[in-house]
Amino acid sequence: MSRFVDRLPFEMRSNNPMVEAEDMGRDGLLLSHYTGGGRGSQTLGQLLKRVGDASDHQVFELGELNGDSSPGPGQSIPFVLAFTDLSYSVKISNKLSFFRRRREGFSNTKTLLDSISGEAKEGEILAVLGASGSGKSTLIDALANRIAKDSLRGSITLNGEPLDSKLLKVISAYVMQDDLLYPMLTVEETLMFAADFRLPRTLSRSKKKSRVQTLIDQLGLRRAAKTIIGDEGHRGVSGGERRRVSIGIDIIHDPIILFLDEPTSGLDSTSAYMVVQVLKRIAESGSIVIMSIHQPSYRILGLLDRLLFLSRGQTVFSGTPDFLPLYFSEFGKPIPENDNRTEYALDLIRELESTPGGTKPLVDFHRSWQAIKHLSNHGTPKKELYTLSLKDAISASISRGKLVSGATNTSTSSSATVQPFANPAWIEIIVLTKRAATNSRRTPELFGIRLGAVLVTGFILATIFWRLDNSPKGVQERMGFFAIAMSTMFYTCADALPVFLQERYIFMRETAYNAYRRSSYVLSNAIVSLPSLVLLSAAFAATTFFAVGLAGGTSGFIFFFLIVLASFWAGSGFVTFLSGIVSNVMLGYTIVVAILAYFLLFSGFFITRDRIPHYWIWFHYLSLVKYPYEAVLQNEFDDPRKCFVKGVQMFDNTPLGSLPEFLKLNVLKAMSNSLGVSLTSQTCITTGTDILKQQGVTDISKWGCFWVTVAWGFLFRMIFYFALLAGSKNKRN
Ligand SMILES: Nc1ncnc2c1ncn2[C@@H]1O[C@H](COP(=O)(O)OP(=O)(O)O)[C@@H](O)[C@H]1O
Ligand SMILES: [Mg+2]
Repeated sequence: MSRFVDRLPFEMRSNNPMVEAEDMGRDGLLLSHYTGGGRGSQTLGQLLKRVGDASDHQVFELGELNGDSSPGPGQSIPFVLAFTDLSYSVKISNKLSFFRRRREGFSNTKTLLDSISGEAKEGEILAVLGASGSGKSTLIDALANRIAKDSLRGSITLNGEPLDSKLLKVISAYVMQDDLLYPMLTVEETLMFAADFRLPRTLSRSKKKSRVQTLIDQLGLRRAAKTIIGDEGHRGVSGGERRRVSIGIDIIHDPIILFLDEPTSGLDSTSAYMVVQVLKRIAESGSIVIMSIHQPSYRILGLLDRLLFLSRGQTVFSGTPDFLPLYFSEFGKPIPENDNRTEYALDLIRELESTPGGTKPLVDFHRSWQAIKHLSNHGTPKKELYTLSLKDAISASISRGKLVSGATNTSTSSSATVQPFANPAWIEIIVLTKRAATNSRRTPELFGIRLGAVLVTGFILATIFWRLDNSPKGVQERMGFFAIAMSTMFYTCADALPVFLQERYIFMRETAYNAYRRSSYVLSNAIVSLPSLVLLSAAFAATTFFAVGLAGGTSGFIFFFLIVLASFWAGSGFVTFLSGIVSNVMLGYTIVVAILAYFLLFSGFFITRDRIPHYWIWFHYLSLVKYPYEAVLQNEFDDPRKCFVKGVQMFDNTPLGSLPEFLKLNVLKAMSNSLGVSLTSQTCITTGTDILKQQGVTDISKWGCFWVTVAWGFLFRMIFYFALLAGSKNKRN
C-alpha cells in the first residue's frame, strides 16, 4: 500500500521551497490549466505528476494506471449531484406562533423547502438565488447534510447513489457565512496550517507550501499574504480578503463538492466577482460548486452555469441563465432588453410575492415548463447510466489528482480508499499546538493580563499575611491565606473563557468537515495551556511562599508550587469544560463565579468536614478547592514537633485572653494541679498534627490531594471532549 503522493520521485521535493513557490506562483498549479487552453482540466495531482514524468520512471507506472492518455472508465462520467423533491418544514414553538396562529388558521408548521429538485454537475456552478428569507441557506444546508435525516424529505444522490453522510464529509467542504479565523495569524500562515491539517503527511512540505502559494495567487491574496487576519483590536486584511481566506481554507484539499452560503455577501462588486471567479476555477478543476447568492451582478451571472430561483421555499425557476429571457417571456413578463436579467427576475418575484395570489402562478408555470423540458431530455440521471460505482468514481478522481483528505492509492488495484482524516492524530496535535502557540505568542497581552492578575493578588496576599507567626492567631491567618490563595487559582482561570469560546467556533467549523479529530484538539488545547500555567504558578508561589513565611523549606516550596500548578491545571480544565457547554461569555462568567463560590464554601475552610450536614457531604468531595486546600494545610502543619499553641497562648481567643500575664500563669498552675501534669508557659498544647485533626483534613494525604487535583484536570478535559462530541452535531432538526 502506498499513497499516490508517496510515489512522487523524491527529487521533485524541492530543497528550496521558496524558489519552487515562486515558480508555482507565477502560473499557479491550478491556474495553469485554465490558461492552458485546450489541454482540458487538470488537477494539482496531474500537474505534480507531469513534473515527475521528466525525472523518474516510477511515475509512468502511475500514468498507466490512470494516465492522461488513456482515460479510465470513470473519467468520462462527471460527478452529478442530484436532489429530488427536497422538503423541509419546522414546527414553530407555541411561544413564537401565538400571534401567527390566529392569522394562519392554527397551522404551526412552517415549510422552509417545498419539493425542490435539481442537479449540479462537476465543472459547473449551481447558484441558488432568491430574496432574503427565501430558503437559500436552508437548501444549501439540506444538500450539505446539515439537516437531520428524519426532518428532511426527498432524496439526494451522487452519481445515482444515495450519499452516505460520512463519505460526503470527506469529499465535500462547506464554507460558512461568517469568517471564523485565528486573528493573529497571517494569511499565508492560516492557509499553511490548513494545508498541514487537510493534506496528507506523505505530501512533502515543499509541495504543501507550493499548494498554499498557488492558492494565494488563485485567490488574489498575494499582496495580503503577510498581513495578519486581524480582529476588532488589531488591523488586518479587508473583508473581501478575509472571505477569500475562508474559502481558501476549505478548498485547500480540493474537495469534490463545495458548498458556500452567500460567499459574496458584504463584498464590493469587484471582490465579489473575484470570489466567484475563483469558484469557477475550482469547479473547472473537477468539482461541483453549489452556492447561494443574494443578487449577482451582470458579470457574475456570466460565470454561473445553473440557476435555481427560490421564493418562500418553492422553485420559481431552474435552468441555465440563457433560458431566463425565454422563460419569462413565455410566462408573459419578458425581460426588457437592457435589464439585468437576475435583477429583473428577483424584482418580479418580489412583486408577485406581494400580490394576494403570491408566486403560485410562477411556481405552477415552472412546474409545467419543467415537465415539457423533461420530456425532451431524460431528466435526472439514473443509476444504470453509471458504469462505475460511486466509490470507484471517487477513487478515480483521487487518482487523477484530487487531494481529498486522507486519500490513499493502492498500487495493486488502482482503487483508492477514502479515509476520514488526512493525518494521524499526533501530527494533528503538533500542528494544532503550533498554531495556537503562534496565535497566543502574538497576543502577549492576554497572558500579560493573567500574569498581572496573579502577581497583584500574590502581592496583596503577601503584604496582608506578611510573616505570619506560629501563634493561635497565626494559625487562623494561615488557614485564611490558604483558602483565599487556592481559590485565586480558579478565579484567574476564568479569564481564559472568552478565548476558549472564540476558539470553539473555529473548532466547530474545522471539525464539521474532518479537518482533524476532536480528541487532537482537546489534547493540544491542554498542551498549549501548560507552559503559561507553569509560569503563573511559579510567579504566585514565589511572591507568596516566603513573604507569608510558610513552613517546609525547599521541599515545602516545591510542593506549594506543584499544588498551585495542579490547581491551575484543574481550574483551566474546568473553564475549558465550561466553554464546551456554554456558548455565551456572560453566562459562562456567572456560572464560574457561582460554582467557585460554592466550591469555596464546601472546601472545609468555613465549615469542617465533620460539621457539614450529611446530605451535603457529596458536594464537599466535589469541591475542587477542597483538595488543594487540604494539601497546603498538610504541607504547612504536618510537622509533629512544631508547636502552635504554647502554655498561656491557649487562652487567646477566649475571655481569659485579656487577663494580665501573671493571672494567666496562675490559672495555668491551677490547671496543672488539678490535672496532675506540669503545664508551664513553654509547654506545647497544640502541635501541627493536632491542628490537622481539628480541621478534619487527615482523610487524604497531601500527595493524595495533589493527584486528585491533577485528576480533576484530566477529568474535566475528558468531559470537555464528550461535550464537543455531543455538541457539534452541527445540524438542524
Ligand atoms: N428554525 C426555524 N424556525 C422557523 N423559521 C425558520 C427557521 N429557520 C429558518 N427559518 C425561516 O426560513 C426562511 C428561510 O431561511 P433561510 O434559508 O435562512 O433564507 P435565506 O438564506 O434565503 O435568507 C426564513 O424565513 C427564516 O426566517
Ligand atoms: Mg441565508
